[in-house]
This record gives sequence, structure tokens and C-alpha cells, in this order.
Amino acid sequence: MRHELMHNNFDKGDFIEVKKILNKKNPILTQSRKVEEFEKKWSKWLGVKYSTFVNSGSSANFISISILKTLNKNKNKNEIIVPSLTWVSDINSVILNGYKPVFVDINLNNLSMNIDQIKKKISKKTLAIFITHAQGFNGLNQNLINIIKKKKIFFIEDVCESHGAIFKNKKLGSYGDISNFSFYYAHHMTTIEGGMVCTNNKKIYELSRIFRSHGMLRESKNPSFENKIKKKYSYLSPQFIFLYPTLNFRNNEIGACIGISQLRKLDRNNKKRTLNFKYFLSLLDKNKYFTNYEFKGSSNYAFPIILNTKSIKKRNYFENILKKNNIEFRRGNAGGGNQLKQPYLKKIIGKINMKKFTNVQKIHDFGYYIGNYPSLKLKKINKICQILNDIKI
Ligand SMILES: Cc1ncc(COP(=O)(O)O)c(C=O)c1O
Repeated sequence: MRHELMHNNFDKGDFIEVKKILNKKNPILTQSRKVEEFEKKWSKWLGVKYSTFVNSGSSANFISISILKTLNKNKNKNEIIVPSLTWVSDINSVILNGYKPVFVDINLNNLSMNIDQIKKKISKKTLAIFITHAQGFNGLNQNLINIIKKKKIFFIEDVCESHGAIFKNKKLGSYGDISNFSFYYAHHMTTIEGGMVCTNNKKIYELSRIFRSHGMLRESKNPSFENKIKKKYSYLSPQFIFLYPTLNFRNNEIGACIGISQLRKLDRNNKKRTLNFKYFLSLLDKNKYFTNYEFKGSSNYAFPIILNTKSIKKRNYFENILKKNNIEFRRGNAGGGNQLKQPYLKKIIGKINMKKFTNVQKIHDFGYYIGNYPSLKLKKINKICQILNDIKI
């Protein structure tokens, strides 16, 4: 047996769609009509007005914080509240835009931000809360939504790991002022590499297009805004007016065409993944593994495995058994565990009291994930759980 993190996420049907584009006479392959079609279809699926297709989830993260920086008129608001368990680009997009990341611990049952800690960290300096819905779990609750509304704080959702997950009958990614998705191969659906910036706000949408493409005015899709700026800068070539410092984060027609093809099967695949996840949890030994997840509305693309043991020796033994059985795994769940321990942050945040970060540290040392893909058979899940449950930890 071999159990990989992801299997066959790009299938024959996707390949046929790519071939159709390549077989065209003089095909346009750079960002064009297929990208627009994918963006429209994605917006409809998600339940938002606008989406901007970019070349990665990290780019979506970076563009989102750049937009906040452009919209923020209050220079004293320079802090963004972030989870300690997330992908590195969530934190780096904050830092690279000149803001201070303010960290909170996570909950074990949904791997997302601890709301009591968020409440304590909100101050006059708080510009935004940047949540991550980790590994398919919903990180929202009504309390958090009420706080954000009451305090009038920007809210960004990173949904790169939770495509199709739901809170109160609405998809995650339709709650925030901005939301981000990743279409990297290992996620619920793929465009090989790719990401999406989504919003209901027209101004944010226009900025996302501008930030995606060199900061160029002509990307805005807002003729009256463009005319105003062109008049103001009449000494510049109207095709080359660069409004903000950014880079090129565009995707292309092949990526979009794969995205359209993948989107058609996303809901069906997610249903199968959810079935797999519930089956996996029902078999797992509760004495050895944490199973008390809040999985209502979740859409997991990987099975989380959190060991109950506190012994590093037993953990290492666990890893050896997985390796022996060809079960591919990652330690640290989303993004390798506790971001606060990473070298890139050392000079930026200084010393932090780790006593407030016990859950993320638990995940850092004893949290894992293994693959959950639609073609995974229940028989194989049985076998995997048998191996896991037999491990002496
Ligand atoms: C939560 C989260 N945010 C952002 C990203 C970055 O996405 P990408 O790999 O497409 O740059 C990832 C990547 O896996 C992620 O898990």
C-alpha cells in the first residue's frame, strides 16, 4: 500500500480541456477571456460579486493586504490580528506591507483562531483580522462576526484550505471584506498553481485587478476612474500609468481553463471527501487520537491526526510506522505548526510569551495530516486506520 497526500487531482477531463485550447489556431494563452469566464463562474459558485484570478494563494494574500494598505487612511492602525497556525504567506503579506502581525492561539477542535484571544488583542491600532480556515474547518462563529461589525474592523478570510466549507448556509469566503483561495495541486481543486481574490466591494475588486498587474491603471475596469486619473497625469502615456508599487501576479488561459473544468466537479468531490473524513473519524481510536472536531460545514481535503500523547519519543515512533507503511504525512497540520517558532519572524516579533500558545504548540509537536482525496476507497481508509490504531502510543 502507498497513501500519498494527493492523488489524481488533475484528470483526463482537465487534460482534454487544455488540449482544446492548444489546438486552436493562434491561441491566446496569456490572461484573457477564459480567465474572465473562470472568475465569473467562481464568483457565482462562491456567492460573491467579484473575483480576480491570480497565480497563487500567496499572491492573493499579498494583494489583499496591499489593498487594505491603500484603503487605510488612519496611520495609527498598523496591526493585523493573525493566527499562529497558518501558511507563511499570510504572515509575510502583513510584514511586507509594513504592518505588525499580532498573533493569537488556535482551538484544537477547528484549528482556527481563538476568539477570546482575538477580543483581548483588539485595540485602537487594529486594522484587520486575517482569519485562516485551516484544513477544511470553519473558523467563524456569530460572536466573531458581531465583534468585527461592532468594531468596524476589516475582515479577510483565507480559505486556501477550505473550498466549499460552510457557515450558516453561506460558503466561507463570502463573509469577509476580502477572501483568498489557493488552487495549488494539493488542495480541493487545482489550476496547477493559482489563487483567487474575492469580494463584494467594487472598489476592492478594481484594486485587486490593478495590484495583480503591475499597479496599472488600465486594469481597473472603471472607465470614469481611469479618465479622471488620465487627466490628472496628462503628461504620462495613458496605457502606462502605474498607481501602486506591486508586481505581476497574473495567471493565464490554461490555468483558467483547468479551473473551469475542475470547478464543475468540486462539489461532487467535496461530498466524497466529507464522507471519507467522517468514516475515518468513526474508525480512529479516541484514546490515541484527538477526534473531537467541530466538523459541521467542514470540507476537508486532508485527514488531520492529532496524537493524544505528550511524548516526543512516541511521536517519533509514530512517524517511523507511517514511513514504513508508505503513508505520506506532514507534521504541524497547516503550514508546519507554530509560526512563532519560525526563523523569519525572530527579528520581527522579538520575545513572545509562549504560555498563551499551548494549542498551536500541541499541533506543532503532535499534529499531522495525511491525504483525503475523492478516489480514496473506504477499504483503504479501513486499512490506514487499522495501522494507526495498532501503533503503540
Ligand atoms: C492557508 C493557506 N494560505 C495560503 C497558502 C498559499 O497558497 P499557494 O501555495 O497557492 O501560494 C496556502 C498554501 O498551501 C495555505 O494553506
